[in-house]
Amino acid sequence: MSARARIVGWMLAVVGLALSVSVFAAWTVLLARLDSRVDAELANEMEKLRWYARTSSADPETLLKEYLAVNAPDRHETFFMIVDGAVPWRTYAEPPAALDTNQALVARMAAATTPERDWADSAAGQVRWAVIPVIAGGKVEASFVAVVFYDIERREVVEAVRVLALTGLIALALAGGAGWFVAGRVLAPVRLVRQTAENISDSSDLSRRLTVSGDDDVSALAATFNHMLDRLERAFAVQREFLDDAGHELRTPITVIRGHLELMGDDPRDRSETLALVADELERMKRIVDDLLVLARSEQPGFLTPDEVELADLAMSVVAKARALGERRWRVDEVAAERVTADRQRLTQALMQLVANAVRHTRPGDLIAVGSAVREGSVELWVRDSGPGVPLQDRERIFVRSVRGAGRTGAHDGAGIGLAIVRSIAKAHGGTVRVGEADGGGARFVITFPFEEAL
Ligand SMILES: Nc1ncnc2c1ncn2[C@@H]1O[C@H](COP(=O)(O)OP(=O)(O)OP(=O)(O)O)[C@@H](O)[C@H]1O
Ligand SMILES: [Mg+2]
Repeated sequence: MSARARIVGWMLAVVGLALSVSVFAAWTVLLARLDSRVDAELANEMEKLRWYARTSSADPETLLKEYLAVNAPDRHETFFMIVDGAVPWRTYAEPPAALDTNQALVARMAAATTPERDWADSAAGQVRWAVIPVIAGGKVEASFVAVVFYDIERREVVEAVRVLALTGLIALALAGGAGWFVAGRVLAPVRLVRQTAENISDSSDLSRRLTVSGDDDVSALAATFNHMLDRLERAFAVQREFLDDAGHELRTPITVIRGHLELMGDDPRDRSETLALVADELERMKRIVDDLLVLARSEQPGFLTPDEVELADLAMSVVAKARALGERRWRVDEVAAERVTADRQRLTQALMQLVANAVRHTRPGDLIAVGSAVREGSVELWVRDSGPGVPLQDRERIFVRSVRGAGRTGAHDGAGIGLAIVRSIAKAHGGTVRVGEADGGGARFVITFPFEEAL
């Protein structure tokens, strides 16, 4: 069952219940009122007659005749008088049903020696009657009878309640229709979200987005949904890039390894040379895969595990590690005394990439220096060398994945991932990486990110 039908169903059930309760209450109250009104009416008639009798000196029969002549019955009422068991006189107005013709009833009324009240059946349904005997000389001379056509009055109550129930039902139907319409309008955005989600999962087109308008719960839902799609799309893109890169980068080493293995002869010296070469290529492949994985992960949440990092210690430990990379003049330029909140491992990884590049572009005896500083609310970490430097036109594009600068030295062929990794680590820290010129024309790479003091 759809949400719309459920909402409208519940609404109708609740309103319908309320309606039945009110109709039932109206029915009960109106009937109770009718009963007391009829009795009050009869009591009133008796009272009026008594008052009239007190002011008149006529004999009972004449008294009643006169009274009938002046006192007109209300709607659904009739009066008559009984003298000697017969009905000589009744009100002019024709009653809905004649009761004076009911011999047994008239006899019963005539027998009353005190005022009495009772129910009787008639051609117009149940009636409520009252009889007042007029006594003179200790004997019932005449009796006055007032009759209220109870069933007719009751029919009016039934009619009123029926009208009430009917209008209630019409209102219920209208409310149902309006509810259906409103629920449809309210749920339309939800349906749109669902349909879009369905389309996206069917077509795997993650670039589609929901249009967000307004600031209600539904648009918040749509915004959240869009946000999720952003992340999903990005995650898939990263995955695809990784697959493309891995495929592309690994093809060459695999071809090289296969070529060497195919050409390998039986000569033990030739064999060991080939194996060393293959081991070298495999090592390179491993590095490429590791680097690509770092790059892919850098897009995902949880890439950084921020901790307390001592900037001085960071620069020095990088230089200590880097010494193993080659015979250079290693220096620590200047170090900041601050402790910052950052990911020590990732920063070390970035600096090591820069140091490895510097080693690659310098010769034994050249200078490579690492340093750190805190300036204007930013942390700066740098690696500079006395190599050839990076030509101006390359200073932007070398950070893009797989772009290698022209001024390469030696037989190195890197995958061109290093600086992309440096940049993504800087970006994950909310910062950037730039390259400039060091004193003497070498390259000076600087990672800058906002200073956040460790507590
Ligand atoms: N210290 C440097 N001096 C001069 N040029 C540099 C220096 N560091 C990087 N470059 C230039 O930037 C390019 C990109 O560097 P990057 O580290 O991204 O790739 P790579 O070193 O070629 O390959 P990988 O790091 O994946 O092994 C290099 O090919 C080189 O041309
Ligand atoms: Mg590199």
